[in-house]
Amino acid sequence: MTNFWTTDLSQTVRNSEKLVQRRTRAKDVVDWLEEYADEGPTSSNQGVAKVPFQRWFHFKEAFSPKFVADVLASVPYRVDRCVDPFGGSGTTAMTCRMLGLKSATIEVNPFLADLIEAKLTPVSAAGFCRKYERLISTLVIKGVDKRRIPGMPPTLCEPGVDGRFVFSSDVYRTVRAIVRRSGSWDADEARLLRVLLGSVLVANSNVTINGKGRRYRRSSSPKSADDLIASLDAAVDAAVADLSRFAGLPKGGHKVMRGDSRVMLARVAEADIAVFSPPYPNSFDYTDVYNLELWMLGYLGSSTDNTSLRKDTFRSHVQTKWRETPRRANSAALAKVIAALTRKRGELWNRNIPEMVGFYFDDLYITFEHLKRILCPGHHAVVAIGDSQYAGVHIDVARILEECVAPLGFNLAKSGAIRSMRASSQHGGKFDLSEHCLVFERR
Ligand SMILES: C[S@@+](CC[C@H](N)C(=O)[O-])C[C@H]1O[C@@H](n2cnc3c(N)ncnc32)[C@H](O)[C@@H]1O
Repeated sequence: MTNFWTTDLSQTVRNSEKLVQRRTRAKDVVDWLEEYADEGPTSSNQGVAKVPFQRWFHFKEAFSPKFVADVLASVPYRVDRCVDPFGGSGTTAMTCRMLGLKSATIEVNPFLADLIEAKLTPVSAAGFCRKYERLISTLVIKGVDKRRIPGMPPTLCEPGVDGRFVFSSDVYRTVRAIVRRSGSWDADEARLLRVLLGSVLVANSNVTINGKGRRYRRSSSPKSADDLIASLDAAVDAAVADLSRFAGLPKGGHKVMRGDSRVMLARVAEADIAVFSPPYPNSFDYTDVYNLELWMLGYLGSSTDNTSLRKDTFRSHVQTKWRETPRRANSAALAKVIAALTRKRGELWNRNIPEMVGFYFDDLYITFEHLKRILCPGHHAVVAIGDSQYAGVHIDVARILEECVAPLGFNLAKSGAIRSMRASSQHGGKFDLSEHCLVFERR
């Protein structure tokens, strides 16, 4: 097995042509991968702006289709079925579909699960366009569209709090009206429209979003319904072009499973390989980062829904006070890190970080417990994952994970740093953190 993450794009394309199974056409995967701009690290989504399907929603935490294609070409056995327990934007599943492989994907966030399902589900481009045009040309705002969603953050819609709000009333009620109208559509078409609407929400809001949360834009005049519809038109055009271009692609044998992978993996009987990128131990809360889409598109109906989604996500953040659970992951390196963090508790920006780090590796351990049953000996779990740092204490994820999963029968067969990430000042300064590709082989 080579350092497959350094393969150049033309080689990836040639390898993928060979991998394609009879169910699909080599030309499709070649055309698809050739749209990838081979510039940034393959573990990031830089370079997918023109890649059909991947361009539907800007999912910053995604790895590239090239990464998945390179993994699949690097293993010394034929892959027919692939599992990804942390689906995100569905890069693994979409690459498998292009290659004619079966996939099982688990995603806890219902909006993201819909994004994955929408990319994998054929929809008639012409029919979708007709319905969309009719919906927009006959859109009437009703009283119900102006109503606040029970439990939604008070800042979500104008007037907001202290003059700060995420959406103008005009945008808020237009989004809600589109969601209401699409409710009577066929499920596949309604899902596609919700996803495309989700893809233009942040651009039509007063905020920018990153791992540290929401930030109000400095000098922006609030967006209007016309702005929203113009950007939705563009998103629909792009999706329709992709659906038409790849209309001949078979639906494929994919399964999108909605929920917590620590539980849902029990329902996956077998796979030839696992390819995934879990949340990193960096206090990044996915429920927060994709909160606008969840509220506006009708995935959350109360604050309890929001809390329970947060509780079902990996324990990689401190937004929830986690209940103590018995320690599963055992590693000398982990014990050292937790002790160092505990000593520095007073310097940490959140007192619960030492416990969070322990829970995080317990969650990874649970994932590998399932993978031990799902994967045959000699087969692999390929993980893209990043380090973290708090108050100068470095969380060496590769080393800790290697020690934690060894007793489960997984050897670290290969590892390499794919890129350096800059630690945020909140996480302790200028230290360059690595993002690794870790290849675990089941003994
Ligand atoms: C780094 S992203 C995965 C990105 C993905 N590889 C891609 O290319 O789009 C991690 C994902 O794990 C999901 N996640 C977090 N906790 C989860 C859980 N308990 N079960 C399933 N998915 C979870 C998050 O919602 C997020 O979408």
